[in-house]
Amino acid sequence: MQGKFITFEGIDGSGKSTQLRMLAGELRGRGIDLITTCEPGGTPLGRHLRQAFLETEETVAPLAELLLFAADRAQHVEFLIKPALEAGRVVISDRYADATAAYQGAGRGFERETINEIIQLATGGLKPDLTLFFDISVETAIRRMSDRHDSETKANRMDGETADFYGSVRDEYLQIAAREPGRFKVIDGGGPVEEIHSVVLEIVLKALG
Ligand code: ADP
Ligand code: TYD
Repeated sequence: MQGKFITFEGIDGSGKSTQLRMLAGELRGRGIDLITTCEPGGTPLGRHLRQAFLETEETVAPLAELLLFAADRAQHVEFLIKPALEAGRVVISDRYADATAAYQGAGRGFERETINEIIQLATGGLKPDLTLFFDISVETAIRRMSDRHDSETKANRMDGETADFYGSVRDEYLQIAAREPGRFKVIDGGGPVEEIHSVVLEIVLKALG
């Protein structure tokens, strides 16, 4: 497969979306052909799913949640990510399969083996070339999420989770970083936006050659 697949990960409020917007603007300004997307909700079907199981007050069974994230991803890989990579484009996604390992694995407690099987099924084995993990403390995340709720953004079910939940999610991301240092880069997300942007740009330009 041609193209490059880059994913952004982090606990909620880590600044991924802010950095993704800045990076995409900068790369497009340099004439790089890229697609930005997200999970869940990168396709029309995914947006329906997202509304149904994430932007709801209904209690969703953990297994249903795991399978719905996988369904969103299967559609996303098949109809958006794979065709774009095959056309030689750069794809940058706000979250992908590592989020399932962190949130449904460490957060909800599904076995690693189950998680890996479901990820393999949904993605057909497609892995990112590069993943940037924006690392912030759980306290900073919770503060940013509550500021965000006071402003523009719609809350989702995950935003109400406990500090322990986010602590487990963050630990799992850091374990992935330790296992896959070539692909998975940890970036300190606690500094000023512009400084983080410079670090991101340098790593991504290097990866794009
Ligand atoms: P995510 O997509 O990871 O949930 P956002 O980019 O939406 O995170 O950022 C969450 C909140 O934190 C937003 O209100 C955003 O303006 C703010 N924010 C983002 N990056 C920083 C930063 N480096 N320092 C302080 N606040 C930030
Ligand atoms: P979103 O509003 O996109 O949050 P953020 O801007 O912080 O990424 O909501 C996505 C939520 O879904 C977020 O809490 C992480 C969670 N999630 C999972 O639990 N598993 C997954 O596989 C994915 C892709 C997301």
